[in-house]
This record gives sequence, structure tokens and C-alpha cells, in this order.
Amino acid sequence: MENKRMRALIDEINAHNYRYYVLDEPSVSDGEYDKLYDELRALEVETGVVMPDSPTRRVGGEPVKGFLPHTHLSKLYSLDKCTTADGLRDFDARIKRTQADPLYSVEYKLDGLTICLTYENGLLRGAATRGNGEVGEDVTAQVMTIRSVPAAIPYRGLLEVQGEGIMRLSAFEAYNRTAAEPLKNARNGVAGAIRSLDPAVAAARKLDIIFYHVNYIEGDTLKSQSECLSFLRENRFKTQPTFVSGDIERVIGHVAGIERNKLDFLIDGMVVKLEDFAARRALGFTDKFPRWAIAYKFEAEEATTTLSEVVFNVGRTGKLTPLALVEPVELYGVTVRRATLNNMGDIERKNVRVGGRVFIRRSNDVIPEILGAADDKGARIEAPAVCPACGSPLVTVGAHLFCENEEGCPPQITGRIEHYASKDGMDLVGISEKTIAALHDRLGVRSVADLYLVTEEQLRGLEGFKDKKTGQFFRSLERSKRVPLHRFVHALGIENVGKKTARDLAAHYKTMEKLMDAEAAELVGIEDVGDIVAASVIGYFEKHRPLIQRLFAYGVRPQPVTQAESAADSPYAGKKLVVTGTVEGYGRKELEELIRGLGAKPQASVSKETDLLIYGENAGSKLEKARELAVETMAAAQFLTSILDRIR
Ligand code: IVH
Repeated sequence: MENKRMRALIDEINAHNYRYYVLDEPSVSDGEYDKLYDELRALEVETGVVMPDSPTRRVGGEPVKGFLPHTHLSKLYSLDKCTTADGLRDFDARIKRTQADPLYSVEYKLDGLTICLTYENGLLRGAATRGNGEVGEDVTAQVMTIRSVPAAIPYRGLLEVQGEGIMRLSAFEAYNRTAAEPLKNARNGVAGAIRSLDPAVAAARKLDIIFYHVNYIEGDTLKSQSECLSFLRENRFKTQPTFVSGDIERVIGHVAGIERNKLDFLIDGMVVKLEDFAARRALGFTDKFPRWAIAYKFEAEEATTTLSEVVFNVGRTGKLTPLALVEPVELYGVTVRRATLNNMGDIERKNVRVGGRVFIRRSNDVIPEILGAADDKGARIEAPAVCPACGSPLVTVGAHLFCENEEGCPPQITGRIEHYASKDGMDLVGISEKTIAALHDRLGVRSVADLYLVTEEQLRGLEGFKDKKTGQFFRSLERSKRVPLHRFVHALGIENVGKKTARDLAAHYKTMEKLMDAEAAELVGIEDVGDIVAASVIGYFEKHRPLIQRLFAYGVRPQPVTQAESAADSPYAGKKLVVTGTVEGYGRKELEELIRGLGAKPQASVSKETDLLIYGENAGSKLEKARELAVETMAAAQFLTSILDRIR
């Protein structure tokens, strides 16, 4: 009786696990799941019976004393590799010596730890690492903690399947956010966990296995890689999408188009395999590799190098950011000399030292990131005692160091001007980092308000400012005086106020005067504005009211944002608008903003769906296309006149 109920519970829980961990399609709430699990656990305690595929076996269990050897049913081969398109063409030529019209299956080369699972009578018998290809280590207890691995499968025969144990990058990042000892990378995350004698380590790391090969199946019943992957999927294993083609040039194109940094797991290349298993058997193996597959390896994304020096840069908010200078090293095909270290806390946590070796890895930013120390050599990195830019004393706030010399520290001043002038701010034209340095050093510009005092003569004295650029700069400076309020708020660079918050504040307060008088109670009432943002806003205006008043005095009048109001009764509300050609006095961004303000949608290209094309000077193919498609068109000047009362 109990056994029957236990069987039913196990089947139901395993089915939920499969949908959750393999298909990523949860079918019950956590509460419902827990109820089933608790009932099963209670029955197991009561009866003293724990069935072999019970989900309760997955929790981590007792540490094992040592790893036992596991002999694979059939040898696990490695893969031959190449790094160029020609390498793939050579592979194709080799195959074609014996195979007419081969088809290739192209897969990710997953960068984790190879794991081999043995099933018998539909039950997981054991899991092992690759080892030397013939004998690996038994890691069943560790692998059992991986929820996507089925404990029982429909197939009843003797079976050995191969896959790659991985740690998803999202799981890796989440783990490192709170870990006392951060992992160097996701590969070490999985390898360390599977090789740890304590299965609880693997359980804590939320690992996964993606399967790509059937190493042994009774009677050799599978006929192709596609069939093999379908078989794996039918038996509830997680697999990866594949690309199949008989044309090596299309294979090369596919491989070149892979955007590996968009994936949530590490790959170090792509594997190209012959689809047909009879053809595979005809080709066979060398000592180490199958002749029917090849790994195309990408450029390394991770490397070790020596940390030569750490310098501290000062940003516009006075925050000091450490930058690591490293001995030049090749990473993903470029020579890397600099890497990010986030703050002093990060340096200490990662225990990196000047003169020691460090792991560096490409991150989503342009500058790669230092992951941790690769040895314990070198000298400790000391926090600077004074600001490296201006010599002022520093203060520590949380994990960061700050220079408080806001008015006199050059990089803070130039940083604020750069932010004020940026595209999402006042969109000033001709203001590069170099120009800002010259404005600061040669013309004595010390605040964003000083920009409005610069004369044409002064500007022409700077390198690169001939008629055109000088004209552009002053026109954009004039235009900035009528910037929409939210862009002005963003341009000020108030701490914790990014683009979105600036929009929210502008939409709520409508005018600068009202925003400057904002009170905490009202601020926190705005959606997404919390205590920290409110304190930043209030603190900013307490200190910088004179700056805003100076800007007002020079004619800056941020435009109240009445988007919602003007959108409601705009004749363009809900319409799809395209702008083409140049429109005197307006940048593309401004026009788009204007369009959005009218409740309309700016679009990049003309289609049948377009409601109106607005054309300026030198309009070309888009105007032609609009006429072809009989889309309504309007000259920019006419459009601007029609909405004059809304933009004044
Ligand atoms: S097929 C007999 N497919 O890369 C061929 N291997 O460097 C069996 N690997 O030992 C391997 N992703 O651990 C294959 N999609 C994939 C793979 C893959 C990663 C690993 C595997 C192999 C190593 C070779």
C-alpha cells in the first residue's frame, strides 16, 4: 500500500522535476511540489524504504571517503581540433575521400567537465568522470545532486551516455555574489564541485548536464546523430540545438555567426560531426580521436598573466576605480594590457597581488575583468592614502574610496562636463574628452555653467576648432537651452539618478523649480524611487542650487515635459512615423524624442505599416520607397510648424 503510494509520488515528483529542470516549463507551484516531497519523505522514514530513483536521494548525502574507479563500457575518445575555417575545409576533404555527400551536425563544444552516465533496466546505475578515457572516477553521489539528470528513464537496455557538466553563468554569478571564496570561472565551478568528496558542494552550485553522445547502447540501434539526440530527449536528457548541413561553407558560416557571449554557459568552440552512424563506423578512430568529428576551437576567452601595477582613476562622482595594468597577453584574438578590478573590497576578496599571476577573462565590458589570483606571489595592494589626481584626503564609503574635493579635482570636473555634454544629456557637438581637457586647462572652465561663457574667439584658439566645428558647438549650446527637462536632469549627473529616474522625476515634477523644492515624502511616492534616490536628489539641490541658478541666468530653460498631455490630443498619437534626411537645428535623437512626445512611434525604416514619412534636406531612398508604397509624406518644416504649440 505504502509502496504503491511512494511509487506514484516518485513518478509525479520526477515528472515535475523533468519539466522544471530539463524543459524549463514548471508545472506546479513550489508549495504543491513541497507537499508531494514531504509526503514521500515521511513514507520513506516510516517504511525505511528509499527506492533507487527517489528524488530524496538528490539532497547531497554524506561525504564519500574517496573516489572509486569506474571502467567505461566503451572507451571515451577525445576530439581532434582545428582553429581556422581552412581546418574545417580540410576535415570536409578528408571525409569526402570515402563518403559521398556527407551531412554534418554542428553543436556547441561545451566547456565544463565530461560526465558519463550508465543506466540499466531504466535506472541510473552510476556516473563517472572521463579519467583516462577507459577508467574514470565514480562521482554518482555528486551527479545525483544535479536535478536535470533523470534517475529513471523509459529505455530499459544497458546504456552509457556522455554529456558535459556545466555551471550556468547566471548560477556562477549568483554564487559569487555571496561566496566567501569566489569561483575563478564556471568551469572550475563545475569541476571543483564534481571532484569534491562532499556532494553538498555540488548541490550548492546548481549544476546542469547537457548530453551530446551515446557512448554505448545495446545492439547499436541508433542510425544518426539526429536520431541519437532524439533518443536522448525521449529519455529525458537535456540536449542542445544542432545545425545540420552538407555544405561545409554553410557550416563555416554558422560557426562564425555564433555569439558565444550571449549564451548562459561557457563554450570553447563548436563540434562538427558526421551525421550518419554507418559512415562513422566506416571511418573509425585513431588512437585518440574519432575520424568522423572535429572540434573547431575559438580564441581563448580566459588567460593568466602577471599583474604589473594597479592605478586608481577618479570619476565624476569622486569615486576611485582601480585599474589593473597587466603584462600584455592574447585574449580572444586581441592583446590585453588593462583589466578591471572593481574596488578595494574586490581586490582584497580576490587576493590579487602586484607581481603575482592573475586570471583574466573577457566580460561584457570592453575591458576584461580580473577573476582572481593564480598564485600567491607578489606584494599586497595598498589603498592610496590621498587622491591620485589632486592630493586631497580620501573617505571610504562601503567598499569604495572617494575624493571629496568636488570643486578642485580635475577629473571630477571634466567628468561632469563630459556627462553634461553627452548624447543623453545636453548633446553638445564637438566636445571630446580632449576638448574638455583643453577647456579645463587652457580656458579655465570649471563647471558646466562656464561652458556658456566660452567665446567664439577662445574656442577658435583650440586645436581642431575651425569654422564648421565652432559653428556646430555654438548651435548645439544654444539648442541645449531648450532641452527637455528629463535630459537636463540626467545631464546634471545626480548620484543614483540615471536616464530612467530622470524621466520619472521630470514627468512627476514638470518643472525644474518644483523638482528643486522636492521633499523626501513626495519623492518616495514616485514609482521606483526609494530612500537612496530621494536622499541623493535632496542632497544634490541643497548643494547645487547656485549652479542651477547660474545656468538659468545664462538662458537655460529646460522644457517642461508634457508628453502625456500633448500626446493625448495629438493628431499623431499612435501613428508610426519615419524621419529621413537632415532637419536644420534638430538631431535625429531630438526628432525621435519629439515624435515620442506626440504619442507617436518613431521607426527606422519605411514599410507598408508606416503612417507618415517626414523628410528633410537630401532625403533619398526612404522618400522614394514611401512614394512607391503610397505612404503619406510631409516636409519637415511643415511637420515642425504643425506641432509648434506643442514644442514651445
Ligand atoms: S563528442 C567520440 N560533442 O570536448 C566523441 N564532445 O575536447 C565524443 N565536448 O571529450 C565527444 N562538447 O568532453 C562531443 N558537443 C560535444 C561536446 C564535446 C564538449 C567535450 C568532450 C570531449 C572534449 C574534446
